[in-house]
Amino acid sequence: MEYSKKVMDHFAHPRNVGELPDANAVGMVGNQKCGDIMKMMLKIENDVIVDVKFQTFGCGAAVATSSMATEMVKGKTVQEALTLTNKAVMEALDGLPPVKVHCSVLAEEAIRAALADYYQRQGIDPTPYVGVIPACDDAHEHDHGAREEE
Ligand code: FES
Repeated sequence: MEYSKKVMDHFAHPRNVGELPDANAVGMVGNQKCGDIMKMMLKIENDVIVDVKFQTFGCGAAVATSSMATEMVKGKTVQEALTLTNKAVMEALDGLPPVKVHCSVLAEEAIRAALADYYQRQGIDPTPYVGVIPACDDAHEHDHGAREEE
């Protein structure tokens, strides 16, 4: 399996890994394909993502895509972050092998889950903004693989 230089760099030196104790938006999702879990923590001030950290049990491709995804949403508004797709993250990494595309979905969904949590904490229904996010617990039971391109 061939990985790009950028994937190897983000895998070997992942950005924004760890805890974010003052996060005010947290999302946790599971991957229905491999069962791996991703937790995304955001600190949002005035609708801007000022800090972000992630933790994952996922594979190297999940680490690399999450690392890149956190770099791409940091400093962005909530609205901008909502437009981030796993495709854009993969492109920024110069591609992923087809069998690893599902790993990149984990990062995108975890960010969207965290943004849903951000709306919920303000008493706002996130569905119109974020869509339906599969909860971590039932992620395995739902077929939400429409975003995958395998
Ligand atoms: Fe599970 Fe990559 S194999 S995240």
